Amino acid sequence: MREIVVSGIRSTGNLHLGNYYGALRNFVKMQYENDCYFFIADLHSLTTHPDPKMLPVNVKNILAEYLAAGLDPEVCSLFIQSDLPEVSELYLLLNMHAYIGELERTASFKDKVRKQPENVNAGLLTYPTLMAADIIIHKATKVPVGKDQEQHLEMTRRFARRFNTLYGVEYFPEPTSYNFGEESVKIPGLDGSGKMGKSEGNCIYLIDDEKTLRKKVMRAVTDEGPQTPNAPQSQPIENLFTIMKIVSSPDTYNYFEEKYNNCEIRYGDMKKQLAEDILQVTTPIRERIAEIKSDEAYLRRVVAQGAEKARENAAKTIAEVKQIMGIHYF
Ligand code: TRP
Repeated sequence: MREIVVSGIRSTGNLHLGNYYGALRNFVKMQYENDCYFFIADLHSLTTHPDPKMLPVNVKNILAEYLAAGLDPEVCSLFIQSDLPEVSELYLLLNMHAYIGELERTASFKDKVRKQPENVNAGLLTYPTLMAADIIIHKATKVPVGKDQEQHLEMTRRFARRFNTLYGVEYFPEPTSYNFGEESVKIPGLDGSGKMGKSEGNCIYLIDDEKTLRKKVMRAVTDEGPQTPNAPQSQPIENLFTIMKIVSSPDTYNYFEEKYNNCEIRYGDMKKQLAEDILQVTTPIRERIAEIKSDEAYLRRVVAQGAEKARENAAKTIAEVKQIMGIHYF
C-alpha cells in the first residue's frame, strides 16, 4: 500500500555510514513506492546548535548528501523545514493542547536537561510538538524512526488523537513507524561501541576522503587476537566483522572469519580489506557530493521545488485546522 511518509533529519553535522545503511539507503528505495516527504529539520537543530555560521553549511551538506545517495527530487519531496512556515503555525496551535507534564516527561528532554543544563529552552521542551507538526501537517501514515525517536512518534499519535477527540473530528491519522525490517542494518562503532555515532574515533563520514577513511579504519579498536580456535569474538572484533558482512563480499567475510577461527588472523590485513570495501561504497557517493555541492543553483532549485510541493499539503492542512478550531471570523 502506498503510504504518506515523512522523515526529518536535524542539520547538525555530516552523514555517516550508520545514517546511510540505517536510513538513507532505504529512503532511496522507499521513495518510489510511497509519497515521501524528506526534510532537513533546521528549526529543530536550533534547540541545541544555534550557530548562524554553521547552519547554512550543515543544511547544504545534508542536502547534497541526500541527493548524492540517490534521493530524487522529481520523485519525493525534498525540502527544508523552515521553508514551510505552515509547520511553525501548526506547531503553535498544537502547543495549545500539549501539556507541560507530558513534555517534561519525554526521555529526550530529560536527557538534554542533564546534558545542557545551562540551556534548557522552551524549544527543547516542545521539541515533540514541532516534530508532530512536521508529520501530521502532511497527514502522514508512516514515519521511519529509530529507537531513540519512538517516544516522539508516540507523542505525535497522542497529539493527533487529542486534536481529533477535542474537536470531534476524524482529521489527523495516527502515524506509525515504518519498519524496514531486514533492510535496516545498524552499523556499529569503530571504537568498539554498539553504534556508529558522531563521537571521535567511532565514525566514518560519507565525505571522508580515502586517506582519512583508511586511517580511521586502521585505528579501529581491536584486541590481542584469538587465543584458542573458535574463540568467541570480543565486542570490537564483532563490530569489524559486522561491518565487513555489510560492505564486503561473502568470500571476503568467510576468509577472515576462518582466519579468526584458526587463530591466524592479522587484524591489520582485515582492516586494510575493510577500508577498501567501505571505499567501494563511499567513493562514488563522495564524488557525487562534491559535484552536487559545487552547483549552488541546482541546490536552490531542488529546495524551492521541494518546498512548493510540500506547501500545497501544508497550506491545505492549516486552512482546515483553523476552520476546525474556529479560527475563522468574518
Ligand atoms: N527528531 C528527529 C531526530 O532527531 C528529527 C525529526 C524532526 C523528524 N522532525 C521529524 C523525524 C519528523 C521524523 C519525522 O532524528
